[in-house]
Amino acid sequence: MYKIAVIPGDGTGPEVVREALKVLETAAKKYNFKYETKIFDFGGDRYLSTGKTLEDKDIEELRGYSAILLGAIGHPEVKPGILETGILLKLRFSLDQYINLRPVKLYNAVFCPLKDKKPEDVDFVVVRENSEGLYKGMGEFKNKGTKDEVAIQISYNTRKGVERCIRYAFEYARKRNKRKKVTLCGKTNVLTFAWDLWQRTFDELAREYPDITTDYAHVDATTMWFVKNPEWFDVIVTDNMFGDIITDLGAMVQGGMGIAAGGNINPQGVSMFEPIGGSAPKYTGKNVINPLAAVCAAGMMLEILGEEEAAKAVEDAVIKVVQKKLKSLGAGKMGYSTSEVGDLVVQNL
Ligand code: IPM
Ligand code: MN
Repeated sequence: MYKIAVIPGDGTGPEVVREALKVLETAAKKYNFKYETKIFDFGGDRYLSTGKTLEDKDIEELRGYSAILLGAIGHPEVKPGILETGILLKLRFSLDQYINLRPVKLYNAVFCPLKDKKPEDVDFVVVRENSEGLYKGMGEFKNKGTKDEVAIQISYNTRKGVERCIRYAFEYARKRNKRKKVTLCGKTNVLTFAWDLWQRTFDELAREYPDITTDYAHVDATTMWFVKNPEWFDVIVTDNMFGDIITDLGAMVQGGMGIAAGGNINPQGVSMFEPIGGSAPKYTGKNVINPLAAVCAAGMMLEILGEEEAAKAVEDAVIKVVQKKLKSLGAGKMGYSTSEVGDLVVQNL
């Protein structure tokens, strides 16, 4: 019996999570697994009425769950940063979800903004380090508010943190068994402390994986190749900040935020799955947002829980809907409402 903590969150989060849960229910019946859910109301509305983001006791409670399914965090009336650091990043850090796994897979060539690229050309995974780097929040102001102000933001990289992330990428490439290639995406030519550590660790670990081809690309060049030659990539490993940036581009290359899912993974602990697109306030409550990213997030959750057959079936159902039904992956342009798209996935499952 899996215990799933559900955090619908802000904006369109609740609408997309509802569809993901519909799909989960169908998958459970068909593939004979059992689960129970508990809904948690963390998010902007709760913060505005109580002043609370996420408390230590909440984290302790969440530790007792098999996985977390998250809708979106971000509220137009809350100052940027409060909910992000107080909820989303706090969850990632406290639960030591040190991998942010973001597949970039094109399901229908029609939705790819790149000319002449087919599904087989856009099929890679970004392994983003999720617990360190610039996200660590280290730094300081000097002479704040004066003409001589200095703001320092530190990228914090530990050997252990870098190593566990790179190791995950190599293991993932092996398990994935496609191009069997890991590309390190960094900036060794300028960020000579952090990326020296990354490069050395990468080279050392590569020796343990002779079956995996290795490659290196600077982050700026990586964005260029995403557009020009996405077929070069299989597994990309990178730090927290670069991973954040390149996966938004990745989402566009695979057809848009409507389909992009991610997993915040602690291989030894509680992992959290989310559509990566955010709360999309302007579409809230209109039943027009694309729920497939949330459905795919639930699919990733099933895979990590070990329900691999069910995970594959969910993905196959999504592929059918994307290939045969939807006019677009964008909000309001799908040719179906949010709940209808959820129903279509259920029917194809
Ligand atoms: C993401 C988001 C978050 C991040 C924000 C909301 C803190 O952009 O999941 O990619 O920067 O990691
Ligand atoms: Mn992001």
